[in-house]
Amino acid sequence: MSQHSQVLNKSIFAELPYVKADLTYIVRPKEKPINYAYIPASATPQRSATPDVHTVPIFDGRSIASEFSPDREGFALADYQTAVQDFYDDDEVQRVYYPEAEQFVKEQTDAVRVVVFDHVVRNAQRSQPGINTIREPGKRVHNDYTANSGYSRGRWVLNRIGEDNPDALLKNRFGIINVWRAIASPIQESPLAVCDARSIAPTDWVASDLVYPDRVGETYGVTYNSDHQWFYFPLMHRDQALLIKCFDSEEDGRARFSAHSAFDDPTSLADAPARESIELRTLVFYE
Ligand code: OGA
Ligand code: FE
Repeated sequence: MSQHSQVLNKSIFAELPYVKADLTYIVRPKEKPINYAYIPASATPQRSATPDVHTVPIFDGRSIASEFSPDREGFALADYQTAVQDFYDDDEVQRVYYPEAEQFVKEQTDAVRVVVFDHVVRNAQRSQPGINTIREPGKRVHNDYTANSGYSRGRWVLNRIGEDNPDALLKNRFGIINVWRAIASPIQESPLAVCDARSIAPTDWVASDLVYPDRVGETYGVTYNSDHQWFYFPLMHRDQALLIKCFDSEEDGRARFSAHSAFDDPTSLADAPARESIELRTLVFYE
């Protein structure tokens, strides 16, 4: 067994503080679930799968934060000071944040090349239904890509930046890593939970269509499994970032995908400021 898939050390968790919160999984479906990224025609549900809510412990990973690695648990927390002033300014995000984050991901991983290809700002107070530029926190357990769509997204990104031979590049190890951070005050409500990849069984993933007006992507929904070991980092502030491994082409036992979900934290104060965050999607190449 490789070092990446060593068994979970349950005794560590016994010491950690945790909150109990509801996470929304899906019931194992008979047909491939369909999710719409826009408001579909009337009578069509936004999501075809049946939600399956479970109350689970979500451990405070702060005291062991330096132990997490994208290749083992599928996520990691790191310090990251940014020069960006206004994350709502798309132009500044692309001009300042994209190159900064490319450097950050290189420093935090073995990647030799990093291409940022997408970002989403989340703020429930400023989001509008069906408009994807500013969104609400995503309160469903999911992973952004699948064993198939990691490749199709990689090819799409490489075509967009004018690479001559995407398929040749995608024969070497590559991955997709999200960089997630607070953009205003520390996160005091709707934090993000991430699941230790070693606690997820291959059969927990449910490939699902994600329908946009102009294309169909594929993401993973997740079915409940009492083995799942959830973490969060309370009060994430503007000077740190969470790396979330959403895809890895390597199939040697290291983390390939990462189940994650925002959740209603029962310990949040009623007047806590609405969560404001940004996530970047990056295509990474290894030597
Ligand atoms: C992500 C994600 C949800 C959220 O970063 O991929 O699913 O609420 N985020 O921030
Ligand atoms: Fe996601």
